Amino acid sequence: MNLAGTLYIKKMNKLIITIFGATGDLTLRKLLPALETLIKTQKDYESLTIVAVGRRAFTSEEYLSFVSESNAFSGDINTLRPYLVYTQVDALKPNTYENLKTLFSALSSGKQSVRKIFYLAVGPDLFLDIASNLLDTKLVTKGDLNSIIAFEKPFGHTFEDARFINAFLEEKFSPAQIYRVDHYLGKEMIQNIIDLRFSNTFIHAIWNNEHIREIKIVVSEKDGILNRGAYYDEVGVLNDMVQSHLLQILALLVMDIPHSLASEDIQNAKIAALEKVKYIASESLLGQYKGYRNELGVDPDSLISTLAFLRVEVQTPKYNGIPIYLITGKKLARKEAYIEVIFKDAPGSHLFAGSRPNRLIIEIAPESRITLELNSLAKLHTSEVVPTKLEHCFSCNFPGAIKEAYSALFTEMIHGRKTLFPSFNEIAKAWDIICQIRDEKPRYFIYEPGFDMGGNND
Ligand SMILES: NC(=O)c1ccc[n+]([C@@H]2O[C@H](COP(=O)([O-])OP(=O)(O)OC[C@H]3O[C@@H](n4cnc5c(N)ncnc54)[C@H](OP(=O)(O)O)[C@@H]3O)[C@@H](O)[C@H]2O)c1
Repeated sequence: MNLAGTLYIKKMNKLIITIFGATGDLTLRKLLPALETLIKTQKDYESLTIVAVGRRAFTSEEYLSFVSESNAFSGDINTLRPYLVYTQVDALKPNTYENLKTLFSALSSGKQSVRKIFYLAVGPDLFLDIASNLLDTKLVTKGDLNSIIAFEKPFGHTFEDARFINAFLEEKFSPAQIYRVDHYLGKEMIQNIIDLRFSNTFIHAIWNNEHIREIKIVVSEKDGILNRGAYYDEVGVLNDMVQSHLLQILALLVMDIPHSLASEDIQNAKIAALEKVKYIASESLLGQYKGYRNELGVDPDSLISTLAFLRVEVQTPKYNGIPIYLITGKKLARKEAYIEVIFKDAPGSHLFAGSRPNRLIIEIAPESRITLELNSLAKLHTSEVVPTKLEHCFSCNFPGAIKEAYSALFTEMIHGRKTLFPSFNEIAKAWDIICQIRDEKPRYFIYEPGFDMGGNND
């Protein structure tokens, strides 16, 4: 996607990226490797410092050892070493922010333009404390567009929670300073949805209920909840996956052409699409894998769902009647993520033996690949056709070219763009849909680990 930005910083003197939650799983597994990519590829600043913030009494050297010895970190610590400093701050203890303030004064001294990104890789319970303390210590001031704060998903545990957090932030900061993270929007194949839909005449022409028979959005995992039982048992699959990632993908698939590629235009198009989503309880299911209740941190009587199979429709003249399935869960047969668009039979399909509906498959993981399945001549002098795949596999053809989603998000934040970040109105619309599902619960079942929901090769 060619991203039109709201603010473009040409060459800043100094970039300071501060990570709250620097000892956490997300930072180790995702954020530090993404920052490593950024160090290797970004040239938009003269100097960079990554400030790792945590409660533990580490020196910077000790923190680097902690990272490199952690199983969660798979990057190259030597790339990060020259840029990383650790400082001890307890998010809930205002006096400890003085450490950060002192460090920032030293880092900013003599610099003309300093861009500050505060990334909150912590749970939403800490968002308001950290935001208030950053304001009180003047590390961030309202309206300074060179100081921004990113809030990791989930943006609140409930709709009420999200509204409360948002109301506070919108009062204390300018909208351009608030970034709400949904890292799926940074995945290249998801960014590519807009390009595919709106830059290809034939895809655009058949993207409606006259031609589409069914759409599936699938994110399935083989793993269970790993060591995140206490967290997962609070949120379940609806909050963890559907409210954010799956509904964002759906919005991109059914939104109208935005006026431009500017963040606000894309966000508005997605909001309008989400407003039209209707959930159909009678054709939906929620499930829990056998053994979930014995997982560490999980309530032995928990009714939390680990699987969702949700049928929705988009109630517009263009999409009415197309069954759209949102399918996601843990402990399933495969680890994969894809979008499958199945088209209706061609007017002449009855003339050809072996004819199958055309399909467009956008594979997000494990590979990044687009496949268009067409019927094509099987044997000369017969009326037999076979499904033939036209495919472009970005990750197989250009190994290493597909970047970690979080590096795309950091690049946007550096340049003051928000195309890959949902607005609060999108988040609110997605919560409305989750509330519809909670109000009208579908059937619930217990499934065996390894349950097979079907794949895109079937
Ligand atoms: N892990 C993922 O793949 C992933 C993906 C998407 C979203 N998320 C979300 O991102 C957030 C963080 O996830 P995580 O998996 O990294 O959790 P985690 O491993 O439990 O890490 C939590 C982090 O928060 C820090 N923390 C807690 N209380 C603090 C305080 N008072 N002051 C300063 N730091 C404090 C912890 O520091 P200590 O070491 O001092 O406890 C730790 O660094 C969660 O909301 C999660 O849902 C995670």
